[in-house]
Amino acid sequence: MTNSLRVRLLWWLLVPLAIYVFVTGQAAYDNARHTADLVQDNTLIASARMIAGEVEWSDGRLLVDIPPAALEVFASPQGDQVFYNVSVDDGRLLAGVPDFPTRDANGHDSPNYYDAQLNGKPIRAVGFVRQMYDNGAIRRVLVSVGKTEASRDAMLRELWRPQLVRQIEMVLLAVALACIGLTFELRPLLKVKKEVMDRDPMQLEPLRVERLHTELRPIVEAINQCIARLGLQVAAQRRFIADAAHQLRTPLTLLETQLQFARQHRAMEPSLNEALAAMQRSNRSMVGLTNKLLLLAQAEAADYAQLARQKVDLAAIAQDVIEDLAMFAQKREIDLGAELVESTWIIGHEGLLSALVYNVTENAIRYTQAGGHVTVAVMRDAQRVKLAVTDDGPGIPAEARSHVFEPFYRASADTEGTGLGLSIAKEIVQAHRGEIGLAQREHPDRGVIVTASFAALS
Ligand SMILES: Nc1ncnc2c1ncn2[C@@H]1O[C@H](COP(=O)(O)OP(=O)(O)OP(=O)(O)O)[C@@H](O)[C@H]1O
Ligand SMILES: [Mg+2]
Repeated sequence: MTNSLRVRLLWWLLVPLAIYVFVTGQAAYDNARHTADLVQDNTLIASARMIAGEVEWSDGRLLVDIPPAALEVFASPQGDQVFYNVSVDDGRLLAGVPDFPTRDANGHDSPNYYDAQLNGKPIRAVGFVRQMYDNGAIRRVLVSVGKTEASRDAMLRELWRPQLVRQIEMVLLAVALACIGLTFELRPLLKVKKEVMDRDPMQLEPLRVERLHTELRPIVEAINQCIARLGLQVAAQRRFIADAAHQLRTPLTLLETQLQFARQHRAMEPSLNEALAAMQRSNRSMVGLTNKLLLLAQAEAADYAQLARQKVDLAAIAQDVIEDLAMFAQKREIDLGAELVESTWIIGHEGLLSALVYNVTENAIRYTQAGGHVTVAVMRDAQRVKLAVTDDGPGIPAEARSHVFEPFYRASADTEGTGLGLSIAKEIVQAHRGEIGLAQREHPDRGVIVTASFAALS
């Protein structure tokens, strides 16, 4: 059988209903047949009694005059054929068809009903005896009346069919209502499904249980327990990365100081000095990596609900970052410009948002050739505050564009970097329930536009 819950429940409803309809239909048929037989037998005996009432002595002979009413009682649209036979116990036929299959009730006077055949047709008949007295002579006159059964069959159909039709209609109505009911009642389940499907991979709050059926609750509670365990696991992992980065930072900083000290030592051989300089460079990149890992862990752990619910001005943050990066831009001979509007308030974490603008702007400066232009713009409309960092550098190759937000992905191997900058940016934007996007500027304005937008505070 199919696995659909709806179909299975319908089967459970339909099979008992079908049995019920069958049993009650059978009973209704028996009742209807009984009624139709009774009506037919009553008409037959009424007709027979009328005919018997007309049998009389006349000059010592028995005569009968068949009253028209005795046959009119059988009038019906079905046009049944009616036969009769009036005969005396000495074998004389007073009226009717001679070959009528008469049947005497073996001396009893009570009406005798029976089924028989006449001219090859099935008929229902009654035999009724009237005793006629005359001068001590007793004659038994047997009046037999029979009819074909078309009107009785029609009556049976009329009595029985409407009931059956009504019951089938009720079953169909029940099925339709059950279908509607099931669709309605299955909705919460589908809602749970949608809620689970629509989730972000890192959305770890429990599913809501309040408005669920009692039967569904254990399932959703089990899913919630699973989510909770997953949440603990994720939190433990993030803590591990953050702790590891923290732990790494101290010895690396120490090493940096020691290297500086060693290099400042005057009596040093040039080759040793070179080696120390190389060690210092790799140490610096390790410090950079550790700081970025720490920031990524921090951004990943940041939850909108738990963000320090601060009102911050994105344009002001951008302004600070531009000032921080001015030297770097100058060194790389990049024209760093700003297009900032006023009152660009959003809810957010100042440190994280500052890291976002920094990472994106630093990319633009770093990957654009000398003489290029980088513009940091912060705009707002009624609903959104938008950051757009535009450069006229080489751009990002099409095949790399979908990957640049992944951790450790780097499109250009010839420059230094960890590949974490844009994934940190993405995590920060997501923690603020914003949207981040990347657009490639087409010829003749080459370069990249990175945008991030957030809900504006009025
Ligand atoms: N403005 C840009 N122009 C051209 N390429 C870019 C630009 N921004 C990012 N990219 C490409 O995307 C890649 C990923 O950037 P991301 O900032 O994540 O890492 P990174 O800059 O390589 O390292 P990190 O920022 O961690 O030091 C870069 O390696 C670079 O190839
Ligand atoms: Mg970068």
